[in-house]
Amino acid sequence: MDKVTPEHIWQNRRQVLQRLGMAAAAAGTGGFWSRTILAATQSHDDLATLNSTPNTDYQASQKQTQESDVTGYNNFYEFGTGKEDPAKHAHRMVIEPWTVRIEGEVHKPATFSIDDLMGLSGMQERIYRLRCVEGWSMVIPWIGYSLSVLLDRVQPTSNAKYVEFVSARQPDNMPGLAAGILDWPYTEGLRMDEAMHPLAMLVFGVYGKVLPNQNGAPLRLAVPWKYGFKSAKSLVAIRLLRDQPKTSWSSAAPNEYGFYANVNPDVPHPRWSQATERIIGEGMFAPRVKTQPFNGYADEVAQLYQGMDLSRHF
Ligand code: MTE
Repeated sequence: MDKVTPEHIWQNRRQVLQRLGMAAAAAGTGGFWSRTILAATQSHDDLATLNSTPNTDYQASQKQTQESDVTGYNNFYEFGTGKEDPAKHAHRMVIEPWTVRIEGEVHKPATFSIDDLMGLSGMQERIYRLRCVEGWSMVIPWIGYSLSVLLDRVQPTSNAKYVEFVSARQPDNMPGLAAGILDWPYTEGLRMDEAMHPLAMLVFGVYGKVLPNQNGAPLRLAVPWKYGFKSAKSLVAIRLLRDQPKTSWSSAAPNEYGFYANVNPDVPHPRWSQATERIIGEGMFAPRVKTQPFNGYADEVAQLYQGMDLSRHF
């Protein structure tokens, strides 16, 4: 496969390296190592810029969440269960070298570098709502492109009915793995038609920069009509399958976290209502707002579930 590094990414890396006075050291190494070093500082200001074009079809109308909330209030259980744990510990994750294996029911299985993946399509900025199963929400300007671009590239066979996503598992660098809360690596899944829906996004950046580690560097999913746990972070493998895969959350508590996990105010979690949500950044005492079916994306995606009983397939 050709190793294509888009000009703007390379230029940007060079600027960053020059700032660090490391340009000479970097000569000839290529890859994404400059970012690994920068991510260790944990300041989003230090991350490389990722240029993109706004996709005007996908611009949530709600106010964008402050960048510091998106990068400082996270769920990434590999680094602990506290909301501040990922920002504290995720700099330990090694993100260079990084490859993503796409395999299973495809005619052209392949291992991609991050540069390969970044070169597959123009980068778009899409402002998506994220509704976490825990009852809070954010509005986030992700940068990336539709997952379908990558899936088309590997040519799914007619047997491909589901897609499994596998996150990184780095026992030496991820203090949360020892707690054994979930089966590691973290895995998630989508039905093939969900994965091919243009809204399902492969994300490389946020707020104009490459992803900070705590948000799932170097690449993650964003599936905005589903609860946030479907949007697996720091992906290392994508498998196209005949059968529905087991996923970390539905294996841990099948009666609480279903495979579909479509945002649905009418189907409560067994331990709490899903009818309303708290908007992160509005303060603890701000009134909760009503949760929308499919997180406000019903016009786009409701037809995927025609004829299904969504209280059974929650
Ligand atoms: N991916 C992995 N690998 N591990 C996780 O713990 N948490 C999920 C999802 N992806 C999680 C994950 C949950 S519950 C949410 S709400 C979103 O990531 C949070 O994404 P954010 O931290 O970028 O807002």
